[in-house]
Amino acid sequence: MHIPVLTLALLAYSTVTFAAPKPDQPYSQWMANSFLSKSQKINQHYVASVLYEGLQRAASLHQDSALLSFTSNAVSSLVSANGTLLGWNSTYYSIDDLRVGNNILHFWNSEGRNSSKYETAATALRKQIDRWPRTPTGGMWHRDPVYKNQMWLDGIYMGQTFYATYTSYFEPSNTTAWNDIAHQFDLVEQHCRNVTSNLLVHGYDESKKAVWADPVTGGAPHVWDRAVGWYFMALVEVLQVYPKELPGYVKLRGYLAALAEGLQKAQDASGGWWLVMDEPYPGMEGNYIESSGTAMFAYGYLKGIGTGLLEERYRATATKAYGLMIERFVTREANGTLSWERTVEVGSLNTDGSYEVSNLLLLVCAPVLMNGT
Ligand SMILES: *[C@@H]1O[C@H](CO)[C@@H](O)[C@H](O)[C@H]1NC(C)=O
Ligand SMILES: *[C@@H]1O[C@H](CO)[C@@H](O)[C@H](O)[C@H]1NC(C)=O
Ligand SMILES: *[C@@H]1O[C@H](CO)[C@@H](O)[C@H](O)[C@H]1NC(C)=O
Ligand SMILES: *[C@@H]1O[C@H](CO)[C@@H](O)[C@H](O)[C@H]1NC(C)=O
Ligand SMILES: *[C@@H]1O[C@H](CO)[C@@H](O)[C@H](O)[C@H]1NC(C)=O
Ligand SMILES: *[C@@H]1O[C@H](CO)[C@@H](O)[C@H](O)[C@H]1NC(C)=O
Repeated sequence: MHIPVLTLALLAYSTVTFAAPKPDQPYSQWMANSFLSKSQKINQHYVASVLYEGLQRAASLHQDSALLSFTSNAVSSLVSANGTLLGWNSTYYSIDDLRVGNNILHFWNSEGRNSSKYETAATALRKQIDRWPRTPTGGMWHRDPVYKNQMWLDGIYMGQTFYATYTSYFEPSNTTAWNDIAHQFDLVEQHCRNVTSNLLVHGYDESKKAVWADPVTGGAPHVWDRAVGWYFMALVEVLQVYPKELPGYVKLRGYLAALAEGLQKAQDASGGWWLVMDEPYPGMEGNYIESSGTAMFAYGYLKGIGTGLLEERYRATATKAYGLMIERFVTREANGTLSWERTVEVGSLNTDGSYEVSNLLLLVCAPVLMNGT
């Protein structure tokens, strides 16, 4: 049960100071409190939003009221009394910025469904989706104007988990919305999936103008583990709320099943996954077994198995990955906190997307100790 929280809390860092945690806590709670013992900056960026979800899940699981009230207050501080999300620009379209909508919806739901400020803020984000710039075939742009006509796997997690959760609460019979959500996954599948390996490249450009875009598919050249991790989690999370009677449900189940198969094949003997996952890069100089992607895959498998979306036969894959996380990626510091190592700070399609150029970034950034910097 510690996986979801540990994973989510580990994916992100942000800069609030908390007492040092006690090392006898379960990993998820220990890690969550370790994050908070470092200096934390409260904001609505997706990195902080994902961290808050990890903290909130650890808090709920272990009934850690200090942790829960920290998280609830952090999210509340992002929305003014009249429902304005602080710092939000209603005409700036960056799909990463929808991610905070999940935190708002979580506290709207868990705190009695009567907060009009949360409802107003979430509805404003939802209405923005109706105005979102889209590709000719209806895909939501990753960001306007810098990533016009592009869809990235990361964006599917940031945008579609919010769109689906909002729809499940406020418009459960809006079939147009449900179909639109499934369509976002369809487009990524059509352009990014390698049907042999069952893995997906980082994103695609429908206009094929990006320097990295494949002339036929528009796809990026490489399979990046964290992007695939976001996508795997997006499938598992959206399927939690997607109506089973709609055709989109069966399609999303199929996408999840194929990816689960591909990831199992791509798992390294150590239990982890390579940062750059496509052949021939696993094992190559400069590439390495990366911790955030490994944590996301472990989470996706365990959540998928626990909710009946994935077969029990994947459990060994997940537990092996979890074992590696505890053994190699988590460091117990002398002051009683935990650190998370062997991850990459960022991976983007703002370069030519090649292994060589991306690699320079890795040399500079990895391994990053996610210690609140
Ligand atoms: C605990 O030690 C780690 C590693 O040196 C450091 O990054 C962190 O800031 C320390 N935390 C506290 C609360 O002193
Ligand atoms: C809502 O509150 C914010 C922050 O207090 C303020 O800037 C904004 O003008 C208010 N908006 C409306 C419509 O009253
Ligand atoms: C909001 O975003 C739009 C589009 O990027 C930009 O033109 C505008 O200046 C932004 N407004 C503010 C107040 O930052
Ligand atoms: C909202 O609901 C919660 C939980 O049911 C309750 O404690 C709280 O007083 C309610 N708040 C308002 C403003 O009605
Ligand atoms: C249903 O969803 C569509 C697509 O997102 C949206 O345009 C429409 O306004 C929604 N309808 C209702 C009744 O909320
Ligand atoms: C798809 O994956 C297979 C197996 O890893 C690989 O041989 C092939 O080159 C990949 N196709 C593309 C278009 O990258």
